[in-house]
Amino acid sequence: MRVVILPSELEAGTFIANIIAEFISHKENAVLGLATGNSIVLTYQALIEQYKDGKISFKKVTTFNLDEYIGLESNCEQSYRYYMDNTLFNHLDINKKNTHIPECFNNEFKATCNNYESMINDYGGIDIQLLGIGTNGHIGFNEPTSSLASRTRVKTLAENTIQNNSRFFDETEIQPRLAITMGIGTIMEAKQIILVGLGKHKSQAIADAIEGPITSFCPGSILQQHDNVIVVIDEHAASKLKLYDYYINTEKMHQQYMC
Ligand code: F6R
Repeated sequence: MRVVILPSELEAGTFIANIIAEFISHKENAVLGLATGNSIVLTYQALIEQYKDGKISFKKVTTFNLDEYIGLESNCEQSYRYYMDNTLFNHLDINKKNTHIPECFNNEFKATCNNYESMINDYGGIDIQLLGIGTNGHIGFNEPTSSLASRTRVKTLAENTIQNNSRFFDETEIQPRLAITMGIGTIMEAKQIILVGLGKHKSQAIADAIEGPITSFCPGSILQQHDNVIVVIDEHAASKLKLYDYYINTEKMHQQYMC
């Protein structure tokens, strides 16, 4: 696992955006796995800037999002489709037909989930999967005790996740308790994974994911078993890491010899 600790949230976002920009500039028909949430916004803003500066194009890029709530219309401001359109897609030259989100409006959940898995396979799998991490260690909406081999499926949200995300819903709105999420097994098949964690409130989940035992109690810890993972964190999110100095030194070496 490559652990990159950066002084600020902005630098973390720019760092991730640069990796993606470099990748899509060289890979024809790149397939990206995308996340929603606060932590990834600065990455998306940096990508939009690079696109506006004429440095990159998303015309041939295909995307698959990690998850979507069940029970919200796509034009609902809290849906992840709405988030993706407004935070990223509407500002790029991407063809919306190439942007996939595990939405289900007809209660055919099993078929939707199986179809999502098949589509990812048909596109040759995900090249780079972006992930945030929940304060409870979830990746996607794979809550603690999710099977480490799970596939795309309906998942009941943990109380902690519902509370963390309640800030996006006002009192009159019904907040979904179910979502469709890529499974942990699905995520682990991505060729490369980049996880972002920002802020002190993520420090315990980050420490558990990087330095704790591999356990379904912290779904993010499964990334220790993937051979191409970059964890990008700011100093606050890194504050509970026991091997903090080692990661800083290792990254210095990486920059000196591998870049
Ligand atoms: C979002 C997702 C979640 C978030 C995680 C962190 O699509 O799958 O796992 O990445 O909850 O969210 P933020 O970044 O808002 O703290």
